[in-house]
Amino acid sequence: MSSKHFLTLFFFLLLSCNTLTSTSSSENEETFDFVRPIDRKLLGLNKKEKLSHFRFYWHDILSGNNPTTITIVQPPLKLHSTGLNAFGLVRMIDNPLTLGPELSSKLVGRAQGFYASASQEEIGFLMTVNFAFIEGKYNGSTITILGRNPALNKVREMPVVGGSGLFRFARGYAQATTHWVDLKSGDACIEYNLHVFHY
Ligand SMILES: *[C@@H]1O[C@H](CO)[C@@H](O)[C@H](O)[C@H]1NC(C)=O
Repeated sequence: MSSKHFLTLFFFLLLSCNTLTSTSSSENEETFDFVRPIDRKLLGLNKKEKLSHFRFYWHDILSGNNPTTITIVQPPLKLHSTGLNAFGLVRMIDNPLTLGPELSSKLVGRAQGFYASASQEEIGFLMTVNFAFIEGKYNGSTITILGRNPALNKVREMPVVGGSGLFRFARGYAQATTHWVDLKSGDACIEYNLHVFHY
């Protein structure tokens, strides 16, 4: 065997060795490829997917000394805005979510995120909101919605786009209906019904 061939063989063996070590390495090591298929059992996803219905009340509190909804961007221009739709308005929220429609009823979580007036023709908000739950085993888990909310419609439907904790791989939809609204202050109580697939 010529030295050139010997070298080739040597490097070939070296490479095979490397391959062997990396495929046998445990999943916790950082040597695995960028992406790989894994068994769904490893994430507990072999269990049957559940379908759950959640109902709670969302409180937009703009008035008083402790508002939970604050305007962070005023509609920049009168242009394209009839005044009613306030196109361009952005509000940040950290709204209490309660079991019943009374603010004093049991707190089950908070709606954190923002909504923005994204329609020039009517009142139509872009909703970007995480439901951060504190109730029972759901404490610390979140559900995220992202959707369109034509607030004057009786029922507004928004996609549930995902979640964390017990709501990993969640998908579904949320329906919002206004329980009451004070048009003067902007304070409102909204009933939310969520239908969510999760594990
Ligand atoms: C939720 O979890 C947090 C952090 O683990 C804990 O401090 C809090 O007391 C829990 N809340 C409820 C209502 O169980």
